[in-house]
Amino acid sequence: MKRVLFASSEVVPFIKTGGLADVVGSLPKCFDKRYYDVRVILPKYACMAQKWKDMLKYKTHFYMDFAGESRYVGIMETQLDGVTFYFVDNEHYFSGEKPYVEHHWDIEKFMFFDRAVLSALPLLDFRPDIIHCHDWQTGLIPVYLHDSFQGGEFFRGIKTVMTIHNLKFQGNDNAETFMALSGLSGYYMTYDKLKTGVDGNMLKGGLVYADAITTVSDSYAEEIKTEFYGEGLDGLMRARKNDLRGIVNGIDYDDYNPDTDKMIACNYNKDNVLQKKIENKRALQRELGLVQDDNKFMIGVVSRLTDQKGFDLIAYMMEKMCQQDMQIVVLGTGEQKYEDMFRYFAWKYPDKVSANIYYSEAMSHKIYAASDAFLMPSLFEPCGLSQLMSLRYGTLPIVRETGGLRDTVQPFNQFDGSGTGFSFKNYNAHEMYNTLMFAHYIYVDRRNDWNKIIDSAMSKDFSWQASARKYQDMYDWLIG
Ligand code: ADP
Ligand code: GLC
Repeated sequence: MKRVLFASSEVVPFIKTGGLADVVGSLPKCFDKRYYDVRVILPKYACMAQKWKDMLKYKTHFYMDFAGESRYVGIMETQLDGVTFYFVDNEHYFSGEKPYVEHHWDIEKFMFFDRAVLSALPLLDFRPDIIHCHDWQTGLIPVYLHDSFQGGEFFRGIKTVMTIHNLKFQGNDNAETFMALSGLSGYYMTYDKLKTGVDGNMLKGGLVYADAITTVSDSYAEEIKTEFYGEGLDGLMRARKNDLRGIVNGIDYDDYNPDTDKMIACNYNKDNVLQKKIENKRALQRELGLVQDDNKFMIGVVSRLTDQKGFDLIAYMMEKMCQQDMQIVVLGTGEQKYEDMFRYFAWKYPDKVSANIYYSEAMSHKIYAASDAFLMPSLFEPCGLSQLMSLRYGTLPIVRETGGLRDTVQPFNQFDGSGTGFSFKNYNAHEMYNTLMFAHYIYVDRRNDWNKIIDSAMSKDFSWQASARKYQDMYDWLIG
């Protein structure tokens, strides 16, 4: 039996701010349980829903020296869908209203988490062969393992994997502060180790010291070796290219299944989509106060409202889009300027635009089910899950050809009718608009083609099966 421990700052269903939580929550279920025992460790946040907190059982506790103080570390445990989850408890660090609160505080918090994860291992009755770290929040685990945990027999030979879900966020802070908090010595503050600029950098630590590196699509694995996408770490990515592989994300095919989804107005599948999907559009138009019209081209957006996702292109074209015969339904929170932009257009065009500036699982499912198309013109996209959810619901993605979007959406080819969505190449508002209008034209004037694309989209398989196998192969390669 191979033992793997996932370490992550967010995990569905316990706590989620984005796709990282979806991945770490759904992937562990999909390994071959005869050969792989995959468990997960995350912080026990006070802001988790009460029903999840009620599930947790006390396992053990101890005190750990951290940043000059002796700190309590509690370990809680629960099982869900056959997977064991461990939670690191400390009220000082994990009592915020959200998982991420303020930059410096978050750095200290996750340094604490990383040290606590390793310190807790001997008390878990589960010695992992591999610790699989996700994003900057867990970047110091490979570093600490190399540094202060190498003494005893217990830790010797434990391998680490670092998965990059987003290279933009690295967890850096002034080198002096970084050393004082982490307890790491000046030895680590050089450019071939954790230093970038004048800072210590948690993700860089993980990328230098992990035994293997993965990211969440093939295209992004290539892109991050270039300056444009490399976020200052492209040199390191090139240097470690033999240890870096892209494994595309999947989605949970039980949670995101239009045939059984309890959050949507009318269930449907590939065979009856053309009769039944429309009920979801009608219900959403009614619920959001949009014009009731089956033939209005409905575009969905479910997203963090940040520059990464291409909202400056949408902002630039929004007035023009509102002049067209279409409806735009947005669900998201994020940068103030984008929240305000959507609120403004919803006020100006109440029949056409619905701005839902909040977070809601249920509303996201309704939008995936109701919309005709899903707009995601990202500047960069390591993988993206929303477009996979859209494909599963027969809602055709309109995306920019970058990262995982490029790998998962096949553009419609009007000559042979193939394709699962629409895409454009350059980060340019007019290109986005033209592609959107091309999709609109196919929807309005060539409905047979449109319906064929729906069929191709819903026939694709983006469950975890194939990708879980690739992770297994990597684990086998690491520990034989
Ligand atoms: P990222 O992780 O970069 O935000 P992904 O496409 O990988 O992007 O994952 C986003 C996830 O968050 C999807 O599950 C999407 O449905 C969900 N999501 C984003 N914004 C909201 C929101 N306001 N309400 C509900 N779900 C949301
Ligand atoms: C990040 C990326 C997104 C990816 C998700 C899960 O949040 O922005 O593209 O799908 O992680 O890997």
